[in-house]
Amino acid sequence: MNTSLTLQRGDLLRDAQLIAGAWRAAADGRRLDVTDPATDTVFASVPDATAADARAAVEAAHAAFPAWRALPAKQRASILKRWNDLLLAHQDDLGRLISREQGKPLAEGKGEVAYAASYVEWFAEESVRVNGDVIPAPVPGRRMFALKEPVGVVAAITPWNFPAAMIARKIAPALAAGCTVVCKPAEDTPLTSLALAALAEEAGVPAGVLNVVTASRERTPEVVDVWLADSRVRKISFTGSTPVGKHLARASADTLKKLSLELGGNAPFIVFDDADVDAAVEGLMAAKFRNGGQTCVSPNRVYAQAGVHDAFVEKLAARVGALKVGPATDPASRIGPMINARAVAKIERHVRDAVARGAEVRVGGRQLDALGPNYFAPTVLIHADKTMECSCEETFGPIVPVTRFETEAEVVAAANDTPFGLASYFYATDVRRIWRLAEQLETGLVGINEGALASEAAPFGGVKESGYGREGSVHGLDDYLQTKYVCQGQL
Ligand code: SIN
Repeated sequence: MNTSLTLQRGDLLRDAQLIAGAWRAAADGRRLDVTDPATDTVFASVPDATAADARAAVEAAHAAFPAWRALPAKQRASILKRWNDLLLAHQDDLGRLISREQGKPLAEGKGEVAYAASYVEWFAEESVRVNGDVIPAPVPGRRMFALKEPVGVVAAITPWNFPAAMIARKIAPALAAGCTVVCKPAEDTPLTSLALAALAEEAGVPAGVLNVVTASRERTPEVVDVWLADSRVRKISFTGSTPVGKHLARASADTLKKLSLELGGNAPFIVFDDADVDAAVEGLMAAKFRNGGQTCVSPNRVYAQAGVHDAFVEKLAARVGALKVGPATDPASRIGPMINARAVAKIERHVRDAVARGAEVRVGGRQLDALGPNYFAPTVLIHADKTMECSCEETFGPIVPVTRFETEAEVVAAANDTPFGLASYFYATDVRRIWRLAEQLETGLVGINEGALASEAAPFGGVKESGYGREGSVHGLDDYLQTKYVCQGQL
């Protein structure tokens, strides 16, 4: 393999996919190039899977299911704990792998490894507490129970923005519940998933329990269609765009699979007159610029009430203007490259459209060609309004469109005026307002005076067209379980 990426554990840089406990090439030998978004140069390659590979993965997962589900939860928990330990032991290598293929600064890459491991640890601990119910029978001579069982083979289809964490928070609960998994990581970031799978194998996950196939954008439909059509795949867990989520929901209807869909967002971030403005700026910086804004829960629309608008914008512009943009390898970088040219083109289109409709660029607003092909300057736009593309679509980049508002009723209506409902944030101190807003905002997650919401202990997921199902917390485990009612009579 032609790569300039050197890891302490060189064998974590895999060039094969994992099916039935064997590291294999694609059935027809085709390869998928992996590109460094900082330079657009190819630095590795992985198999470009075919339908035959996808079928082999399901065969393996199906064959491994009876033994894995029968293993006492305590033993599954021990394996997951070892996986957690290995992730943390190799945090540096994994962080560098994430940063190289995804572009986020190294500190964030390493942070993501710890974040991913936190899900593995959480579900390891939770797996021994999958209790059913003993139901008091309404008639004599009967005993009634509700048993919790693993759903079966799970297909996990994961995005590029958090190549480790999104895999961990699907695979860890699936394995904890006793399910087996076929996984397809995003075409941009296959290497991290293969390294995670190698460590899972090392931790003792048996052959066939976890299968990872890697496929290009072009071949992904071929792979996923196999899983959609196969009735042995009982659940799909997907993180990605709403159009793809809708396609998966329609296409899995024939086999009535269980679905967890974590889809697009359009998060409002609201700063009220009674807010602590400095805290609101800090919260926005944390929420917005994590992974350069390429995060589903990233604030997409910022609303500042008239009384604090100018002070808020001034402080925000100063902070955003000072953000250091650069490659992941530069320890000072706070914002890395965007994932690819398509992502940059969308951000540029949003800025151009906003300006054409009356927005003003306070900071940034342009591509940073001198750094490389995929860099975009962190940007603050003022006078944003709901007609602009950046207010209606998820930008997935480092731009902050700010809209001035007057009343609480007006901003709640604006915040909810979207088909999406993943995350929302607001800064306020009036306790009555806080509870009104917490109840009125139509999102699955609400941050109150807090910009960093994600936690393995909390249920993560959306409402409306941001999807359904939850990841993390006990709810995230329940999504991989089904309930069986057992009734014994003649007692
Ligand atoms: C996502 O962008 O889908 C997940 C972000 C998070 O875990 O906070």
